[in-house]
Amino acid sequence: MPLPQRINEILSSPAIGTHIQVTGWLRSCRNSKEISFLDLNDGSGLTGLQVVADKTLPNYESEIQNLSTACAITVHGLLQESPAKGQAVELLATTIEIVGWSNPALYPLQKKRHSLEFLRTLPHLRGRTNSLSAMMRIRNCLSFAVHRFFQHHAFQQLHTPIITTSDCEGAGEMFTVTSLDLDNLPKTAEGQVSFAEDFFSQHASLTVSGQLEAEAYALAVGPVYTFGPTFRAENSHTSRHLAEFWMVEPEIPFCDLTLDMEIAEEMMQFLVAAVIEECPDDIDFFSRFVDKKLAMRLEVMARPFHHITYSDAINQLQQTTTKFNYPINWGVDLQSEHEKFLTDEIFKGPVIVTDYPKNIKPFYMRCNDDGKTVAAMDILAPSIGEIIGGSQREERLTPLEQRMAECHVSRQEYDWYLDLRRFGSVPHAGFGLGFERMVLLMTGLGNIRDVIPFPRTPGGVAR
Ligand code: 4AD
Ligand code: MG
Repeated sequence: MPLPQRINEILSSPAIGTHIQVTGWLRSCRNSKEISFLDLNDGSGLTGLQVVADKTLPNYESEIQNLSTACAITVHGLLQESPAKGQAVELLATTIEIVGWSNPALYPLQKKRHSLEFLRTLPHLRGRTNSLSAMMRIRNCLSFAVHRFFQHHAFQQLHTPIITTSDCEGAGEMFTVTSLDLDNLPKTAEGQVSFAEDFFSQHASLTVSGQLEAEAYALAVGPVYTFGPTFRAENSHTSRHLAEFWMVEPEIPFCDLTLDMEIAEEMMQFLVAAVIEECPDDIDFFSRFVDKKLAMRLEVMARPFHHITYSDAINQLQQTTTKFNYPINWGVDLQSEHEKFLTDEIFKGPVIVTDYPKNIKPFYMRCNDDGKTVAAMDILAPSIGEIIGGSQREERLTPLEQRMAECHVSRQEYDWYLDLRRFGSVPHAGFGLGFERMVLLMTGLGNIRDVIPFPRTPGGVAR
């Protein structure tokens, strides 16, 4: 493919003495009457290529001296050792074509470091900064590694629907999808909106999870995984929640909770190792400028994960002298302060919490013999809290019907799901990895809005 060479490749194995072509955007320019030094970056790495342009170039006075940050250029030149400090090699330009000008008086990004809060106001431009481009490279590496991991273990990727009628998690946090005229809504005799007249002839929403559909295919073709966007209308203004986020959801037939946890742990360790191996410069950047403890935290991820049951975790949390904002007693859901206490204070590493009370978990989880808990597992990551939620599914028809009744899940709407228990049901399990939380873990960034290019959160879709 005739694409220009990327700057990270040129810098990692510089062919000194050869003529090359590079393209990119200027991070900065130092101009004088006779010579200009241009810092060219193409987003392939943190370090730019220094381009040296002198007055022998025909457009030196007319164009090159007017270049400024953000201008896009194509350079042909001779790659040579740099006589000056600061870089090993530089490109002595033989031609510079200005592909796109920029107005320095209006361009909002300067060479100095901007705060992440300020950059959030410029989602369309912030990818040009080191923090966001490093995040992007790590995100890309993680995404590809997810596919590598599952494909290597013969899972098939399943494209589950984005528009759905089922509320998998049962939390009622779904965005409605409609083509009805909002200024003139058709009503039923009872005065409610008549979705029978809507596009799908019924109420439809954006999916909160691809799990239920993944179960159908896992029971047809073997292990599958979905990796897609999911949507939650939960009004959580935290640094861990997005209204639109990406989830990795494997679903495995002939699988119990123990094997499910093993797969999840192996997957996380594979992902961590892939980023350490493939993005060392970016990890180093985040370790230096964002989170000094990042390298140590990633090391801990390579060790075996700790296990604790929900009931034991509650006991341990009750025994500490630490005061929590949310009271802790058997039956309550763990809050992020509790999760972080378990990972950061008690275990000092990732923890898998199992066997949660059935009342705080969705209808599809398998009931344990005690009648009170379900075969659930959440993986809690240091400084993040819950990063994976998973379970063994209730594969027995009658207990599932009972749970659906208890949770007020419509038998009629989920009859297709019950079919999976009627025709060749098998024990099966799966989990969901919050992809952005994984990017948080790998970068040490503290806010989930900074690990997705265009964040969607309550109260604001910036672009
Ligand atoms: O625990 P959750 O709700 O589990 C499910 O959706 C299951 N159906 C998964 C499965 O078994 N196939 O969500 C899974 C993970 C959470 O652990 C968290 O990492 C992430 O998704 N997550 C969010 N990430 C960002 N913003 C939000 N609002 C999130 N809600 C959940
Ligand atoms: Mg969960």
